[in-house]
Amino acid sequence: GDNTFKYYSEGEWKVSSSGKLVPIINPTTRKPQFQVQACTQEEVNKVMESAKIAQKSWAKTPLWKRAELLHKAAAILKDHKKPISEFLVKEIAKASKDAVTEVVRSGDLVSYCAEEGVRLLGEGKFLMSDSFPGNERTKYCLTSKIPLGVVLAIPPFNYPVNLAVSKIAPALIAGNALVLKPPTQGAASALHMVHCFHLAGFPKGVISCITGKGSEIGDFLTMHPNVNCISFTGGDTGIAISKKAGMIPLQMELGGKDACIILEDADLDLAAANIVKGGFSYSGQRCTAVKVVLVMESVADTLVKKVNEKIGKLTVGPPENDCDITPVVTESSADFIEGLVMDAKKKGATFCQEYKRDGNLISPLLIDNVKQDMRIAWEEPFGPVVPVIRISNAEEGIHHCNASNFGLQGCIFTKDINKAMLISDAMETGTVQINSAPARGPDHFPFQGLKDSGIGSQGVTNSINVMTKVKSTVINLP
Ligand code: G3H
Repeated sequence: GDNTFKYYSEGEWKVSSSGKLVPIINPTTRKPQFQVQACTQEEVNKVMESAKIAQKSWAKTPLWKRAELLHKAAAILKDHKKPISEFLVKEIAKASKDAVTEVVRSGDLVSYCAEEGVRLLGEGKFLMSDSFPGNERTKYCLTSKIPLGVVLAIPPFNYPVNLAVSKIAPALIAGNALVLKPPTQGAASALHMVHCFHLAGFPKGVISCITGKGSEIGDFLTMHPNVNCISFTGGDTGIAISKKAGMIPLQMELGGKDACIILEDADLDLAAANIVKGGFSYSGQRCTAVKVVLVMESVADTLVKKVNEKIGKLTVGPPENDCDITPVVTESSADFIEGLVMDAKKKGATFCQEYKRDGNLISPLLIDNVKQDMRIAWEEPFGPVVPVIRISNAEEGIHHCNASNFGLQGCIFTKDINKAMLISDAMETGTVQINSAPARGPDHFPFQGLKDSGIGSQGVTNSINVMTKVKSTVINLP
């Protein structure tokens, strides 16, 4: 029926020979909404074989032609923003207007990547031997960037389209073939996005999309001998993948515990607005969400009051109504969040709002006076719950930030740029934002996490570099 989707292999839409389907549960209704094919290992083999073959001629396709196809896909993607965003609403409960933004942002990313690729890959280097001690001018070295082969892209549920194209576009512009394994919740949106690439006319096998259960095809995909690079965004699974993967480049982003440090001289209205936006957008289900507020005791009461006023204005309800807070992605996710909340309650934290849950819908909650022994001080809720820890100096804030296993982003609110720079230098995170909430975008900015937050760097230019290798040819003169 209309709610059952095929997978995409060898330029065609196919039904799996397994005869099995994987249901996609609507987080709002908690009922099955769509179903995707439960692909088999043989079907993975088929996809990998065709990707490997297709890549050879794709790499020989002129760069400007590859760019042209990407621009075409970007335009089609934007034209399809309505159906794709409707899928996002139904399968990941993203508010309708944010779902549209995700698709448009994705189209822009694909176009930007095509342009960047044309410039970046359109030139190489020329080196001469006599700049290194002991050498004559007898060796001319020419370098260029060549594709790796087949890139496996595994995006997470929270941006099934945007975090898919952020891997697909750099891989394709660089001359790689791309195999996508979308998250189950997000697969319908991702398949429709792939349909846009299909309509743009990419040669068969250059892009494929395989769906199914991680338990059946997960390891088989990530350990497949045809895979030459894995670009993964998600949770702990990434650590397991990195341990099992072969000798191939990995690009990984595995979440964060982004700290928001607020000094005494901060603009507290600005800070409060950013805590609410950073902590509660998409119900806190962003790796870059504000996940702990570290505020100077002297301004804490004022800040908490300002944040609470704004939380009081957030709308809570279904994504179809464009509510600010929508149901979290799964029941088990809601249970996990509840576990962190109850732990904090038991250990004596101050709840600024009453804890409310209806199915997967959790009302926004600020938890004040959080102490170091509470799980929520360290763990990532991935829900609309923000802990506040009161500090008596900036060092305490830096210390808490750096004691985390994560190191994605962080932010500092102060009017003193010198202090901000010193704290930024001291924070062990991939990015520090001064006077704004953490965020990945704009999508061409470098994006990376230290420690358990990831491997390598993303952002358009960095991703193209990760998905290519330098090749040199040396001309030796007599
Ligand atoms: O969830 C992880 C995303 O990479 C964060 O992206 O900062 O645009 O929400 P965002």
